[in-house]
Amino acid sequence: MKHGRIPDEVIEAVLKAHDIVDTVGKYVHLTKSGHYMKGLCPFHSEKSPSFTVTPEKQIYYCYGCHAGGNAIHFLMEIEGYHFGEAVRHMAEEAGIAVDLEAASPEQTEQQRTANKLLEAYELSAKWYHYVLRNTEQGKAAMQYLRTRGVNDKMIDAFQIGYAPPMWEKLAQFMEKREMPLALLEQGGLLSARSDGGYFDKFRDRIMFPIHDWKGRVVAFGGRAMGDVQPKYLNSPESPIFNKSRLLYNFHRARASIRKAQHAVLFEGYVDVVQTWEAGVSNGVATMGTALTEQHAEVLRRNAEHITVCYDGDNAGQAAAYKSIAILEQAGMHVKLAVLPAGMDPDDYVKTYGGERFRSEVLQEAIPAVQFRLLYAKRNFQLQDVDDRLRYIDTAVKIIGQLASPVDRDHYIRELAAEFSMTAEPIRQQMNEFRQQHLKKRSVGDNKPNSWNNVMNNEGTSEAMPTVHYPAYHKAERMLLAAMMHDREVAQEVEKQIGDAFNVEAHAALAAYLYAYYAHGYEPDASKYIATLHDEKLERAASSILMLETSEAVNNQAIGDCIREIRKQSHPLQQEIKRKNEERVRAERSGEVILAAQIAIEIITLEKQLKSI
Ligand code: UTP
Ligand code: MN
Repeated sequence: MKHGRIPDEVIEAVLKAHDIVDTVGKYVHLTKSGHYMKGLCPFHSEKSPSFTVTPEKQIYYCYGCHAGGNAIHFLMEIEGYHFGEAVRHMAEEAGIAVDLEAASPEQTEQQRTANKLLEAYELSAKWYHYVLRNTEQGKAAMQYLRTRGVNDKMIDAFQIGYAPPMWEKLAQFMEKREMPLALLEQGGLLSARSDGGYFDKFRDRIMFPIHDWKGRVVAFGGRAMGDVQPKYLNSPESPIFNKSRLLYNFHRARASIRKAQHAVLFEGYVDVVQTWEAGVSNGVATMGTALTEQHAEVLRRNAEHITVCYDGDNAGQAAAYKSIAILEQAGMHVKLAVLPAGMDPDDYVKTYGGERFRSEVLQEAIPAVQFRLLYAKRNFQLQDVDDRLRYIDTAVKIIGQLASPVDRDHYIRELAAEFSMTAEPIRQQMNEFRQQHLKKRSVGDNKPNSWNNVMNNEGTSEAMPTVHYPAYHKAERMLLAAMMHDREVAQEVEKQIGDAFNVEAHAALAAYLYAYYAHGYEPDASKYIATLHDEKLERAASSILMLETSEAVNNQAIGDCIREIRKQSHPLQQEIKRKNEERVRAERSGEVILAAQIAIEIITLEKQLKSI
């Protein structure tokens, strides 16, 4: 059996080297529950856990959204990897050698360009980092970073570097490596001279590598050390860098964001670095651009909650205000961490320490509505009666947009108390506003979640809701489950019915299973799933593997299943189907007596079929 060009032995070794509980545990908080582990599904939003991992079978399965498969497949789904990428990733982690060239499919021209650029960025990042850490030229930059409270650990973790003040250092370095300089110019690492040569784009700057979600360097933010403009020079958009989608530090923070279902959004690179050192592992930042819908979408796919922690100056607060609508539109629950005027997170951590940053800034983050009220308030002179009334009017509109009546009531009361008024007239005003502006529109309402409450009863898989399949369908699933656990059962079924399963996916699963055993492999759910290479089949297999087959699958039971399956393809069954269609036609055309006659014939046929 071949999997693209990755040899079976590699896949086998990769699966052996990774316990699925560890693989999944990096993204999902799992708790033990009987013979499996469970947690909140990372693939759909839910409040009670329907996501399971079965260590014994080395598979995962979600009873809510039916995601399922082995460890490789989990990584594919959660990281968006192709099969080969997932295997390579896991192999690297386990120190298993994979022939990278052989494993990658043919590249298009575009991919070749992108790969070359990636290579150039990777090389540059290493080189800048080296210059900072190990050369004479880097000394002043090291000194600068030290005074800014960036220590060696942070420098190494974020691969921070330094571009020396010379004009052609990187260009020469790249030329020696035979990199295509014209491409590097396009990619924003070099600039073209009018006489045809190239010179370094980044000079005398602290270099912050920007990684994509796979952890590959795709851009730089270069910070000037003095008062040079621009303060930050950033790489341009390129085939590998999309500013409006990428978030700084996302690849490092992602697992933590997912696990906590919570992200912290900063404005600056240094804020992320500084707070990371202070224990905030779920921090990300945009890069000199305003937050976009695409950023919000990426965040929402990974977390339900977000805390926006922008600079305490006017620009920062205005940007934070704008971000609320974008994040809420994406369906996130938004809070805002407010800093003392004139401070940014970096300053705060350096002045008061990481612990206070977490407990007094992040923990004290306020709900979006409260921030909106505070933000609006700044435009009014509240000691002035007119202004006060105008503020209340504005506040009523903000509160009136809340979806929850309980929340609305809470904030109306607070507002009334704040100005020593009774709540009733304010509430009335809000209701009028709602009637005029929000008819039938439920602002801020999150999509109802059909998967929620799927699994409220603590219990084993039997307690979970099962889909109701027709008898032959159930029989096929039972049989496949038994076959997956026992080679002899599979051989017996192969002899008796081959791949004559009625459900197409089941027939395919059986065929793959026969091939699997023909290779001399032992029953191993996860390994078998690795041979399928088809998402639908992987899900189907995982779902079947969740069936309880512990009650001894005896010959009797297997015989019953086979009979049930055969019935479905039996000529009598075909006859019953035809008769049924006839009956429906008769009913439609009002031939009641004919329809009744056919119904009786059907019953007789069914009896015959049962007695087979
Ligand atoms: P700030 O001006 O707040 O810088 O810009 P900072 O992050 O606090 O940097 P330090 O602490 O002064 O070194 C916030 C972010 O805006 C982008 C960068 O991404 C920066 O981190 N920015 C800022 C630019 O892209 N270009 C600039 O000239 C300035
Ligand atoms: Mn700063």
